[in-house]
Amino acid sequence: MRTDTAPVVRLEDYRPTDFLIDTVVLDIALDATATRVHADFSVRRNPAGRADAPLVLQGDELVLLSVTRDGVRLTADQYQADPQGLILPGPLPESFSLTIETMVNPSANTKLMGLYRSGGNYCTQCEAEGFRRITYFLDRPDVLSVYTTRLEAARADAPLLLANGNLVERGDIPGTGRHYAVWHDPHPKPAYLFALVGGTLDTLAEEFVTASGRKVEIAVHVEAGKRERAAYALDALRRSMRWDETTFGREYDLDVFNVVAVSDFNMGAMENKGLNIFNDKYVLASSDTATDADYAGIETVIAHEYFHNWTGNRITCRDWFQLCLKEGLTVFRDQEFSADERSRPVKRIADVRTLRTQQFAEDSGPLSHPVRPRTYREINNFYTATVYEKGAEIVRMLRSLIGPAAFRRGMDLYFARCDGTAATIEDFLGCFAEASGRDLGHFAQWYEQAGTPVVTASGQYDAAAGTYRLTLSQATPPTPGQPTKAPMVIPIVLGLVGASGDALPIATTNEATVDADGLFVLDSANATITFTGLTERPVPSLLRGFSAPVRLESELDDDDLVVLFRHDSDPFNQWQAGQTLATRLILAAMRGETVNTRFGEALGHFLDSDARNDPAFAAQVLALPSEADIARDIGRDINPTAIHNARLAVKRALGAELAPHLNALHGALQSSEAYRPDAANTGRRALRNAALDLLAAGDATEGAARATAQFDEADNMTERLGALAVLVLIPGAARDHALATFAARYGDNPLVLDKWFALQAGIPEEGTLDRITELARHPAFSMGNPNRIRALFGSFAMTNATQFNREDGRGYDLIADTVLALDARNPQVAARLLTAFRTWRVLEPIRRGKAEAALRRVAATQGLSPDVSDIAGRSLE
Ligand code: ARG
Ligand code: ZN
Repeated sequence: MRTDTAPVVRLEDYRPTDFLIDTVVLDIALDATATRVHADFSVRRNPAGRADAPLVLQGDELVLLSVTRDGVRLTADQYQADPQGLILPGPLPESFSLTIETMVNPSANTKLMGLYRSGGNYCTQCEAEGFRRITYFLDRPDVLSVYTTRLEAARADAPLLLANGNLVERGDIPGTGRHYAVWHDPHPKPAYLFALVGGTLDTLAEEFVTASGRKVEIAVHVEAGKRERAAYALDALRRSMRWDETTFGREYDLDVFNVVAVSDFNMGAMENKGLNIFNDKYVLASSDTATDADYAGIETVIAHEYFHNWTGNRITCRDWFQLCLKEGLTVFRDQEFSADERSRPVKRIADVRTLRTQQFAEDSGPLSHPVRPRTYREINNFYTATVYEKGAEIVRMLRSLIGPAAFRRGMDLYFARCDGTAATIEDFLGCFAEASGRDLGHFAQWYEQAGTPVVTASGQYDAAAGTYRLTLSQATPPTPGQPTKAPMVIPIVLGLVGASGDALPIATTNEATVDADGLFVLDSANATITFTGLTERPVPSLLRGFSAPVRLESELDDDDLVVLFRHDSDPFNQWQAGQTLATRLILAAMRGETVNTRFGEALGHFLDSDARNDPAFAAQVLALPSEADIARDIGRDINPTAIHNARLAVKRALGAELAPHLNALHGALQSSEAYRPDAANTGRRALRNAALDLLAAGDATEGAARATAQFDEADNMTERLGALAVLVLIPGAARDHALATFAARYGDNPLVLDKWFALQAGIPEEGTLDRITELARHPAFSMGNPNRIRALFGSFAMTNATQFNREDGRGYDLIADTVLALDARNPQVAARLLTAFRTWRVLEPIRRGKAEAALRRVAATQGLSPDVSDIAGRSLE
């Protein structure tokens, strides 16, 4: 059913459900077009609900076959039903059994929510509200039930049958060619964690022994013929399970843990209890087909979904407003895991890049919302960078504020106290308040107040007194529905650096306390810290490790920044100083000023000394701030072409200036060893690719030659794709040849072709629009597959700033047309694509007008899904 506007759901309207469903017994006969779902529920009145309320169950596009209560088949006048819901008016007893039979068509399910087909297999996606597309249910996260699932299918059609929990029975149905499997999950769970899989899959499995000696079979199932590419995911799963034991004391709690990779998936992956279902992009990897970034992504997402077993499944959310309770916390946990497995500073830099590109952009425009929103129309539109990434930053700040020991005690308390419940942010924070003895009332504001706080710093050195007065102030710009903002609790980790790079001692006179780790808590609009005992003017290094998700404006001059870039003991701020210097060069180039070369000199120095000690870090240093970073810094009247040109000019100048260093690095970092995706080799390849990219900007001829050689010689996807990414920016025969070679080599591998689609969609040239129209007709492209859409149209809209924001508006029209064409088929993916317009209001007037017209055209279209209608409406508010 398609509606123009869905009703608003409000946090303040939450009330407990009138009924509970303690057990769910499903008997599902899988069929490609006519799957029968027989569901038995044991229902009872919730003591916390209304005593005389009717039973109201949700449905979505369901065909109802029968309703039976306490063994008696109900007649049509005894209930009200349509595809969207089923109501039993009553009077109803305190407890009763209810049996519902429904029919669903998995092949017709193009929304990829509920039960659908992918690659010839059956799979499900139930978060947030997909279970109601399988049977009528109390489809809300605070209804926890014990599930038993019997699956039946033709053996030839689906030799493998999986559901949540442990396998209790399986067998043939003699003489029918059919077989069945019964799965039982003893852990009560909400319906959004239900899952089933049926089909022909290749399995890679091993035994995992938990800390207390329990044996668990862990398995990764992939589409037939892809088993060799499942090994890294299984390895990442094993490491994740061990890490959660050692770091948080969390053990796994079933006999099996299954991961299934499917090729059609709306998001990244899903943490269904004991049966995680993944977008195969986050499972499949081999040296020939996956980049180091893909390996890192697999490690992260495997860990993320596994960690949900405790933070999400054992403890779930009371309602969808509390989504960050599981998502922010679980992102924090997966970030910590990757930091422990790889380089902590490099992981932090990468995470902050994502936070700034995605979350800061979202938070500065019309789609800005609190980490815990107060209202929604379509919950699927709130699986956002704010809920996930900013949600993780809040947990990280909490740990800085109360310290790691109290944080761990708080987590232990949370696991002990809330296990088996559907919890809230208040429950979560309460555990940390208790464990630390701190009042977290003010801190809780981070969940309520949207927008990115701006922290301004200014300092005064008094040589005679040997003091340095640092004044910090904060302000948060207004966001939709929140015109005025209160001060937040902002943990600022800081240090003072002397001109020759020494760390200066920290002593303060006044109330303001800076603890031994350099932590100062800014919890009012302004504060002043007076540092004493100084014998030289210090350079303040503020917000070390990016200790809070804020924008920092400081008055450091270029010389100060060079000091930090050379000497800061905090790697994040060392990197940040380089980024700030580069940003200043780009902004100067936009004003037509001549390029100052102190950064080039410092970078040259860095490349010859520190860079080789930590190549992964050096690669981050070499990567200039993105066009989006610069746009965010400018903040208004954005002309993406002017930014692109200025950035390119700076990149060319740096590339030319540093050519000897870069050529040397590029040669020295070549390796003849067999490919390994470990941190050290990943870092080496990252730096090699970054060096190639910068040197090609400085000298296109030399760059194209080196890139072509790297492309031809590479024995791994990271270097092959790194070379191709450089070549696509240089028009000519070398580019055409490399693109054709790549397509021929990987013509039968859709995930690899996605990289080819994405690189071409990102080419900052006029011709890209026509190229995209042509690529959309490529036989490997399909509007039915979310990964293809994201690769081609998503990359264009999200990464190709000059072409999406063409002055003639044709980039906006292309995306608007694509959103409209996609909406009837897959509203979630369409709505996500439309968020590419989220910063339209800060564009210069001509582009702003064109973007607005495209958005209005979408918003005015009849029969929009609630998903797209919600994004279009809020974007225009
Ligand atoms: N819980 C999943 C994860 O982050 C995301 C599922 C979101 N799906 C959706 N249709 N909104 O791990
Ligand atoms: Zn998650």
